[in-house]
Amino acid sequence: MTDRTSALRVGLAGVTGYAGFEAWRLLAGHPHFEVVRLAAGRGAGTTLADSWPALGPGATMPIEALTTGFAADLDVLVLALPHGLSAPYLAGLQAEGLLDGIRVLDLGGDFRLRDTGTYAKAYGARHPCPELLDHAVYGLTEVHRAAIADAPLVANPGCYPTATTLGARVLLAAGCGGPVHTSCVSGVSGAGRKASARTRYCEVQDSVVAYGVGGTHRHVPEMEQELCCPVIFTPHLVPTIRGMLATVTMASPSELTQERLHELAVSMYADEPLVVVRNTPPATRDVRGTGLTHVHVRLDPERETSQAFVAIDNLGKGAAAQGLQNLNVMFGLPETMGIPTIPLLP
Ligand SMILES: NC(=O)c1ccc[n+]([C@@H]2O[C@H](COP(=O)([O-])OP(=O)(O)OC[C@H]3O[C@@H](n4cnc5c(N)ncnc54)[C@H](OP(=O)(O)O)[C@@H]3O)[C@@H](O)[C@H]2O)c1
Repeated sequence: MTDRTSALRVGLAGVTGYAGFEAWRLLAGHPHFEVVRLAAGRGAGTTLADSWPALGPGATMPIEALTTGFAADLDVLVLALPHGLSAPYLAGLQAEGLLDGIRVLDLGGDFRLRDTGTYAKAYGARHPCPELLDHAVYGLTEVHRAAIADAPLVANPGCYPTATTLGARVLLAAGCGGPVHTSCVSGVSGAGRKASARTRYCEVQDSVVAYGVGGTHRHVPEMEQELCCPVIFTPHLVPTIRGMLATVTMASPSELTQERLHELAVSMYADEPLVVVRNTPPATRDVRGTGLTHVHVRLDPERETSQAFVAIDNLGKGAAAQGLQNLNVMFGLPETMGIPTIPLLP
């Protein structure tokens, strides 16, 4: 448990975006963190209320540009930026000795892949700051909790890898064999707040489309890094705002039974406060606005195939809520503190 009596001072960059705002929303209700400084790109020079009128005119906190001065006197830096921005920013801080004593949570992709060659292939550019990779821990809390506790820099996982990995690891424990097939759907907020032709209302409403197919999605190497086997990934964009559902399929051993598969899921997640193992397939609605992961596993004995159905909120467990879960772990706070566990229903 942290021995600080005053709140930990947080600087949050990317607050004008969806993941950043969700991080702000959760941190605003947390008793041990205080967001003292906000930054953004085009939104720099405005206020929180300018970007988020829903907060009312009283939300006058200024939004700054992301300069090195932004990090002064912070305990925690939370980065919710497009990929490729966090690494050079942190490298600049480190070069000026301004990173000492600051714990960093990066919601983006810059520090998730350990191998720089894999990063270059996935992101189409050389890693901007490979020397910081050694300090980064992959922030899938249920898997890397011990390392996260001491990490100076936590690379929060992508939303698809979070849902897929939490399901596939049950199937792997049951002796299922690769490749991992993961067919996922995501709400449109997963693409961020910046307008694009692909995410306009007229393009997404009343329609479903696959994208990033043929192994080209950046989350493929991230999943393969965690699962250590080939991953066949098909993401789909669906006309909801929040929510992600992963259907993970693997070949199962002939002796596997439904009871054994379910028991494995139950025992794997028995001590996990934010994972719920269910007897029926979960819906995205069941976890909306929460940091929960709902998991259901099912065997098809005739086809010797096992599936895990995993629902998360892409902005919750898929981004900001897992980020807060990690911050709680990093500062020795109760892991679920400040994380919603009751969904917005209906
Ligand atoms: N959306 C999700 O469900 C989700 C899930 C998991 C992880 N993530 C990751 O979280 C990160 C943010 O995603 P998002 O969906 O929130 O994107 P977004 O809605 O597009 O927000 C991006 C944020 O970054 C800011 N920004 C852009 N350039 C900047 C610069 N040069 N300096 C300072 N701030 C800058 C933007 O500010 P302006 O708009 O004011 O320019 C905005 O606040 C991404 O790396 C994404 O992969 C997102």
